[in-house]
Amino acid sequence: MHSLFQLPCLLVGLSLALVAAKKPNIVFIITDDQDLHLQSLDYMPLVQKYLTDKGTFYKRHYCTVALCCPSRVNLWTGKAAHNTNVTDVMPPYGGYPKFVDRGYNDDYLPVWLQNAGYNTYYTGKLFNSHTIFNYDNPVAGGFTGSDFLLDPFTYQYYNAVLSRNGRKPVSYAGQYSPDVIAEKAFGFLEEAMADEKPFFIAIAPIAPHSEVSTGNFSQPQYAPRHADLFTDYKVPRTKNFNPDKPSGANWIAKLPQLNETVIAYNDEFARCRLRALQSVDEMVEGVVQRLADNGILDNTYVFYTSDNGFHISQHRMHPGKTCGYETDINIPLIVRGPGVGVGKVLDAVTSHTDLAPTIMKIAGEELREDFDGLPIPFNEEEKGKIEHVNVEYWGRGIPEGKYGFEGWVLNYYLNNTYKALRLIGDTYNLYYSVWCTNETELYDMTRDPDQLHNLATPEVLSPDYEISGRNIEHVIARLDALMMVLKSCKASSCTDPWKVLHPPGDVTDFPSALSTELDTFYEEQPKVSFSKCELGYIVESEGPQIPFVFGQGAGDSGMYVQEGGEGQMTMGYRGDWSAWT
Ligand SMILES: *[C@@H]1O[C@H](CO)[C@@H](O)[C@H](O)[C@H]1NC(C)=O
Ligand SMILES: *[C@@H]1O[C@H](CO)[C@@H](O)[C@H](O)[C@H]1NC(C)=O
Ligand SMILES: *[C@@H]1O[C@H](CO)[C@@H](O)[C@H](O)[C@H]1NC(C)=O
Ligand SMILES: *[C@@H]1O[C@H](CO)[C@@H](O)[C@H](O)[C@H]1NC(C)=O
Ligand SMILES: *[C@@H]1O[C@H](CO)[C@@H](O)[C@H](O)[C@H]1NC(C)=O
Repeated sequence: MHSLFQLPCLLVGLSLALVAAKKPNIVFIITDDQDLHLQSLDYMPLVQKYLTDKGTFYKRHYCTVALCCPSRVNLWTGKAAHNTNVTDVMPPYGGYPKFVDRGYNDDYLPVWLQNAGYNTYYTGKLFNSHTIFNYDNPVAGGFTGSDFLLDPFTYQYYNAVLSRNGRKPVSYAGQYSPDVIAEKAFGFLEEAMADEKPFFIAIAPIAPHSEVSTGNFSQPQYAPRHADLFTDYKVPRTKNFNPDKPSGANWIAKLPQLNETVIAYNDEFARCRLRALQSVDEMVEGVVQRLADNGILDNTYVFYTSDNGFHISQHRMHPGKTCGYETDINIPLIVRGPGVGVGKVLDAVTSHTDLAPTIMKIAGEELREDFDGLPIPFNEEEKGKIEHVNVEYWGRGIPEGKYGFEGWVLNYYLNNTYKALRLIGDTYNLYYSVWCTNETELYDMTRDPDQLHNLATPEVLSPDYEISGRNIEHVIARLDALMMVLKSCKASSCTDPWKVLHPPGDVTDFPSALSTELDTFYEEQPKVSFSKCELGYIVESEGPQIPFVFGQGAGDSGMYVQEGGEGQMTMGYRGDWSAWT
């Protein structure tokens, strides 16, 4: 029994132990093009056993650009793609050279973590256009140990080439790439666990990305031990699966229905993806067991996610990503670790922009002022309050698979530049997008989760249809103004966009913006539009950039004056956007 005066000593002892405790370790597993909506996670029993059942599944997690390289740069910098301006997989608009040119190689998450006292490791695919020619010019920054898959071999499942710690690339021809990455991950893990410092290790296998060997995108290859699996699997026959009527807008609305040959090919394509993921599933077990064997599992966060989602036959589309539809942007995120709910599903709205801030918080570091996101909540008590995800895309659509590839020749998918917005709250669950052709889409995701009834088209625009008690016209006016803020937001204007429109802070979310008193203010906002479809972020082709700010009059009037108010003209204020940051 402890006497009363021993208690303070006990507490001092305890807090000293806490101070001395190592910062938590972080394992970050990122697959390539893994879907949530085709149910791939259901076919990964070890991910379920070691991660989902022991951690939290974020059912509303989104990527902000549905394309590998821009999404990964967004992830590892915590900045929106319109701020990184890394928007494509290759120069001039993206790829590793653009990432380096923009100065991020010395200023992104692994560098910050090293400064925070971490050993950092990475194996697998970092970015596209990271090649056997530029891997050491410069070497990717910020890693204690690295072994990177390099182009043009990145997506060749049995012909990988990797560069270890900046050295000359080595061929792994004949070995199964995801298995090679698993072995390398285990090696780095042993190295990390042998050192005193806390560690961060990112594991980035290519599964279930398409095989890209001969310039085209064919079904992914799997290891022979998984060849007999999932022979009965078919892509879920949701309402948007190869629908009888065309859906969507722009090039998607022009797609012909897929015939039975293509559907059969696509189902097999999906089975190949599930088989390719089995190597990753086994790797997850290997990682968690090693952490447990070393007694550090309880002080380690394990993240599992993908760079972007994937569609197969939805909206009549060939396999691929690059779209704003839910299949492409709502992606797996599972986290386990200290303070993270066990066996929980969170419906907080989170995005890849939030993960670098989350990891910095885990590392006990101050959040950077230029982060465009916020740390994600780890349990229901921490419930996040962000209702929006800002989605953007520049460039082509990329149809994959044998039949999809045929469409390339026609340049059919050229005009795939768009802005989109996901907005989720108690009484609304919306997807709004504006294409570079000026076409718009609005889906009520509660009543139409398949995104088949575009409420923004005149045929569907019904005066009786209400969302959160207001009709579509008023809803769109708010969504468009919010998009106007988000499409060029920086830092706090990304996390708190309503404050840009309403600086006093009296309008903090979509329902408060829907007030009838604000109808004129929102109707008269400049609208999001494009003058041209570009393949990159050419701001001159992206229409008005700055919304009117409520309560800030033009010039001397001092107030935003609504129509009819004291006989004055309706005026808005073109804010200085440098003031937003
Ligand atoms: C596409 O890939 C397949 C399988 O890898 C190959 O047989 C075919 O020749 C390729 N087609 C083109 C146009 O490169
Ligand atoms: C099905 O569609 C594909 C792709 O357009 C085409 O190549 C093929 O000839 C079609 N097959 C049949 C049986 O119509
Ligand atoms: C989109 O709308 C804007 C504003 O009305 C117009 O200036 C622009 O030319 C349109 N763009 C296209 C691609 O039609
Ligand atoms: C792409 O959009 C432009 C407008 O920017 C339009 O003139 C052109 O016809 C579109 N091309 C296709 C293939 O839809
Ligand atoms: C983004 O990069 C492209 C290619 O370098 C450049 O043309 C464009 O102006 C940049 N956009 C912005 C907004 O800086």
